[in-house]
Amino acid sequence: MVGRLAGKRAIITGAGSGIGAATASLFATEGAYVLLADQNGDAAGELAARINEAGGRAVACTTDVAREQAVVAMVAQARTDLGGIDILVNNAGIGGGGNALNATDESIDRVLGVNVKGPLFCCKHVLPDMLSQGGGAIVNVASISSTCGIPGQAVYGPAKGAIWLFTRQLAVEYAARGVRINSVAPGTIETPMIGGPIAAAN
Ligand SMILES: NC(=O)c1ccc[n+]([C@@H]2O[C@H](COP(=O)([O-])OP(=O)(O)OC[C@H]3O[C@@H](n4cnc5c(N)ncnc54)[C@H](O)[C@@H]3O)[C@@H](O)[C@H]2O)c1
Repeated sequence: MVGRLAGKRAIITGAGSGIGAATASLFATEGAYVLLADQNGDAAGELAARINEAGGRAVACTTDVAREQAVVAMVAQARTDLGGIDILVNNAGIGGGGNALNATDESIDRVLGVNVKGPLFCCKHVLPDMLSQGGGAIVNVASISSTCGIPGQAVYGPAKGAIWLFTRQLAVEYAARGVRINSVAPGTIETPMIGGPIAAAN
């Protein structure tokens, strides 16, 4: 362990796969006590077990970030199991949603629910803890699609654009009270979300 996050307690959503799983593993290696929250509780549980076997500290939580009551339960578990929350990584997200011609009521609600309402609910229920303890850090996983037009992403792109702006909004609102809020905007990363090896697409 390197220890840059020693003593920190972190919730990482979407930690069962891809970027969230890599983030959780790195946080644990750096000494954080991590709560791995994912709709796929089995995947989160398997990773938590691997982290604990390797000498880190992790617990798993099955949640759906698009449902506020599930987020309330996730945050309650973090308070109990980790003893508090210093870091929130809003990583859970889904692709798709369709383009301007074929998006549907259902596909739009699904993508906005997970990618926009999810981070909003998580911030809503974690911020009071951070404010009352005088500080914390939140990282929202946006996307290159937040600020670039990409064909076929008429739903996903605006959802990620919303998270980028949501981050700026909250960052100025809570900086003076000790909560640091940033977003990261990855380009294409080879994870299950993109549905196959990058090499195969070229
Ligand atoms: N992979 C890329 O190229 C890329 C690029 C830019 C941004 N991103 C963003 O990075 C984040 C992670 O993407 P990834 O590529 O690692 O995807 P992934 O599909 O590998 O992992 C996403 C994880 O989120 C979980 N999840 C999905 N919906 C959920 C919900 N409602 N509640 C809780 N968990 C849920 C899934 O079960 C999965 O474990 C997403 O927000 C995505 O938009 C990815």
